[in-house]
Amino acid sequence: MEERDISQAVISRLPRYYRYLGELKSDGVDRISSRELSRLMHVTASQIRQDFNNFGGFGQQGYGYNVEYLYEEIGKILGLDNAHNMILIGAGHLGCALINYMNFRNRGFYFRGAFDSNPQLVGTSVAGIKIYSMDEMEQFIHDNKIDIAVLCIPKTDASSIAQKLVRYGIRGIWNFAHVDLPVPDRVQVENVHLSDSLMKLSYNLRREDETENLVRPDTVPAGEAT
Ligand code: NAI
Repeated sequence: MEERDISQAVISRLPRYYRYLGELKSDGVDRISSRELSRLMHVTASQIRQDFNNFGGFGQQGYGYNVEYLYEEIGKILGLDNAHNMILIGAGHLGCALINYMNFRNRGFYFRGAFDSNPQLVGTSVAGIKIYSMDEMEQFIHDNKIDIAVLCIPKTDASSIAQKLVRYGIRGIWNFAHVDLPVPDRVQVENVHLSDSLMKLSYNLRREDETENLVRPDTVPAGEAT
């Protein structure tokens, strides 16, 4: 498959295609046209074709795309054909919620262990995953071929822990701490800030309010009602 230098915008749309195609596959759909996929996903058919053309177009022939082939090819592009071994750092509220979400396994992401600085948590388990002390982390990463660390600790400690993780051979960090991590370019960091998504929602609500007020100029602003 031909693969050019792909923009991050295209890459960020691939998981959504993958998810929809997975659902179509489970529903027993064999083929789908870009127009049908467009209707389903609420994106334009030309956007879909442009995105897929970055990867050689996925050989659309006759009527539409072969769903299973497309699902598998996008999975390969996303690196989902290889399983990933993960550790959690920080088994608090957020960390435990992530470990309890079993669906990551279905995508090939396996939590192998958790680490925490709280001695009361060390030796206990969450969803069958054992919590170890921070001193055991280096050996564990090495022994279990861990490639991804999930960082759910306060931002004050996140940078120094990230630097240790890099020294121990971690290749990817899924970072929930609200800080930019000082890591070399060879280490991939994906920052997740749930509140960014919430703020985007808030922006869209505000924009919708403004549009409604334009359409209905007689609307009485808050605080002016008698
Ligand atoms: P929490 O206090 O419930 O859990 C934090 C855990 O980290 C505790 O078990 C604690 O013992 C452990 N810990 C603290 N320092 C450590 C260190 N140096 N090494 C190893 N373990 C350490 O906190 P919660 O609610 O789980 O949040 C964790 C982090 O995630 C916070 O930084 C919070 O701001 C962030 N967060 C980020 C979100 C996002 O969308 N990015 C959403 C929610 C929380």
